[in-house]
Amino acid sequence: MDDFAEKLIHGRTHISPKRLGSPGPSKSQKDKILLAANAAPDHGRTLPWRFIEIQESSRSELGEVFYQCLLDRDQNATPIQLQEAREKALRGPLLFLAIVSYEDSNAEISKQEKLISLGCAIQNILLSSYSLGFGSGLSSGRALQSARIRELFQLSKQEEPICFITIGTVLKTKPDRIRPEISEYHSLF
Ligand SMILES: Cc1cc2nc3c(=O)[nH]c(=O)nc-3n(C[C@H](O)[C@H](O)[C@H](O)COP(=O)(O)O)c2cc1C
Repeated sequence: MDDFAEKLIHGRTHISPKRLGSPGPSKSQKDKILLAANAAPDHGRTLPWRFIEIQESSRSELGEVFYQCLLDRDQNATPIQLQEAREKALRGPLLFLAIVSYEDSNAEISKQEKLISLGCAIQNILLSSYSLGFGSGLSSGRALQSARIRELFQLSKQEEPICFITIGTVLKTKPDRIRPEISEYHSLF
């Protein structure tokens, strides 16, 4: 168990969505991955997050939003840049948008706690995917802060989109990343 946890925690690395291909998780594997999210710590059990799966049939709609968002912030974007923005939505067989909900945040259960809960749920999803043999990657980007994304996914006023999660078969790996030393993030008091 110890060894398994070590392998899982230290084996997972970020894989760029363009390096994630088919096959993606089957229906039962996807359910397992999603179920892992519900084991995240959640103060007050308010379920302050949700994940929207962007199905194959909706990818072009998302691509159009990425395209429009790039045009909004850069009128001089080249046709290649615009095409790339569109294609980002097509990458990877399984794509989720991770959303936090700050509804009913208060002094007892703050927005920060809710965001941490989402972070833990995301990590569970990444580790579960890895344990099933899949790679995963997170992506954010300026479009996430746009009204267009809020409108596309019909987010409520209390919700914020945090990042996309792409899951699939690793097509190409990169050298292992260098991780920080314990001394960089630990001190005694
Ligand atoms: C909320 C969040 C958003 C992220 N967005 C991006 C992104 O837009 N592009 C990217 O290359 N990596 C993104 N990452 C992944 C980090 O770059 C990656 O986790 C980091 O380099 C550490 O590598 P590791 O995950 O392999 O340990 C994001 C990570 C988090 C937590």
